[in-house]
Amino acid sequence: MPRVDCDIRDVKLAPEGKRRILWADRDMPVLAQIRERFAREKPLTGIRMSACLHVTAETANLMRTLQAGGAELVLCASNPLSTQDDVAASLVEDFGVRVYAIRGEDTDTYYRHIAAALEHAPMLTMDDGADLVSSLIFVAIGRLQDVHPRVREWAERTGKERCRQIIQGILGSMEETTTGVTRLRAMERDGVLQFPVIAVNDAQSKHFFDNRYGTGQSTIDGIIRATDILLAGKKIVVSGYGWCGKGVSLRARGMGATVIVTEVDPIRALEAAMDGFLVMPLLEAAKIGDLFITVTGNKHVLRREHFAVMKDGAILANSGHFDVEIDLPALREMTAEIVRQVHPHVDEYRLKDGRRLYLIGEGRLVNLAAAHGHPPSVMDMSFATQALSSEYCVKNRGRLTPRVHDVPREIEDTVARLKLASMGIQIDTLTEEQKRYLSAWEQGT
Ligand SMILES: NC(=O)c1ccc[n+]([C@@H]2O[C@H](COP(=O)([O-])OP(=O)(O)OC[C@H]3O[C@@H](n4cnc5c(N)ncnc54)[C@H](O)[C@@H]3O)[C@@H](O)[C@H]2O)c1
Repeated sequence: MPRVDCDIRDVKLAPEGKRRILWADRDMPVLAQIRERFAREKPLTGIRMSACLHVTAETANLMRTLQAGGAELVLCASNPLSTQDDVAASLVEDFGVRVYAIRGEDTDTYYRHIAAALEHAPMLTMDDGADLVSSLIFVAIGRLQDVHPRVREWAERTGKERCRQIIQGILGSMEETTTGVTRLRAMERDGVLQFPVIAVNDAQSKHFFDNRYGTGQSTIDGIIRATDILLAGKKIVVSGYGWCGKGVSLRARGMGATVIVTEVDPIRALEAAMDGFLVMPLLEAAKIGDLFITVTGNKHVLRREHFAVMKDGAILANSGHFDVEIDLPALREMTAEIVRQVHPHVDEYRLKDGRRLYLIGEGRLVNLAAAHGHPPSVMDMSFATQALSSEYCVKNRGRLTPRVHDVPREIEDTVARLKLASMGIQIDTLTEEQKRYLSAWEQGT
């Protein structure tokens, strides 16, 4: 019997999960320092917290940190395919965290788990993609017909008055990824956001490093683990030259591939061209690419017209948040037969005209579906920012307005300084003369 209420694959997987959590912890020194301070100061005492995140070894170390600060935690998955079952088991068994997440869970189970996180009546929430908050907002504005049936059932069971109390009791919410922030800003624009949200993704201490170097390395890692292909000499098409796309392109070039970037934003396209990548419309790139990677946060980027001209044997992968970047319904319509798992994590789509296309990880985030996600060293910064933002919400309870807020600059600087120190890197400081010079206008030619 597991120690606490939960819904996980198998609690007996805990020893392997614990080994991996502690291994990741070795490379997360900033979070470890915050954990030590939290254990002394207990800034989250009495705070019920629900987190909807990828259940990985790095997330487990964030949970340990929040728990050390006194938070009462529930964790559910932010993607049906990203849960590491051994980590979930260890969180339950070794650390007493209530986890609701099973790798490969269907949509029904996914939302049943989100409902379990809502049932916790959180005072702080943490999201990766805004599925937890958007479920709550649908309930808050009475659009129960638009929310998943499992969440609707929870709202009906709980009753309007209790739901209202839960929503009013939320001190703040943290959002981890670009797509989540995009959704939250849309909620703010539509006037439906009911509580303050901290856009952790938009902090420089997060997206400069996590989105660029984390996604860059782990996306390539996932593709190699799934396919075993040699990247050198391949033509790799990267759609989207945002923070993630820059990292993926850089690492793919480093492995000897010819990288073609496709974009819709002229500045980003120009940046890609001047960074030395080929830039062209996706329809042209589709004819020559060996491997396609979408990282746009947008929908149906790779679609019918592109599949129609791709080479036999082309490989498709997505590293954007949701599985909508590759138009899978269109791909299925063009397909005579799908051979599942021709290689672990790879499905072969035999098209009606005889060509074969290979889809990795069912079009879900390839770095989490086929590999372990970002390396701990980079999640150290993202999750340090998350932990300090949680503390900030509690310290400022009642003072933050219900909109999307930036992470305070002091938190970003603290995370960067601690990370530099952990890497043994020292930097210079401004002299008094330099400070005066930078704040004056008098001195010119
Ligand atoms: N795999 C991961 O672990 C991971 C990590 C961080 C972020 N993400 C997700 O990756 C996605 C991208 O994040 P980001 O931080 O790079 O965002 P970003 O906003 O910095 O960049 C996205 C880029 O895609 C471009 N784009 C939009 N539609 C396009 C289209 N149809 N064709 C070509 N380009 C298009 C935009 O112009 C923009 O330059 C988001 O969904 C984000 O949530 C995934």
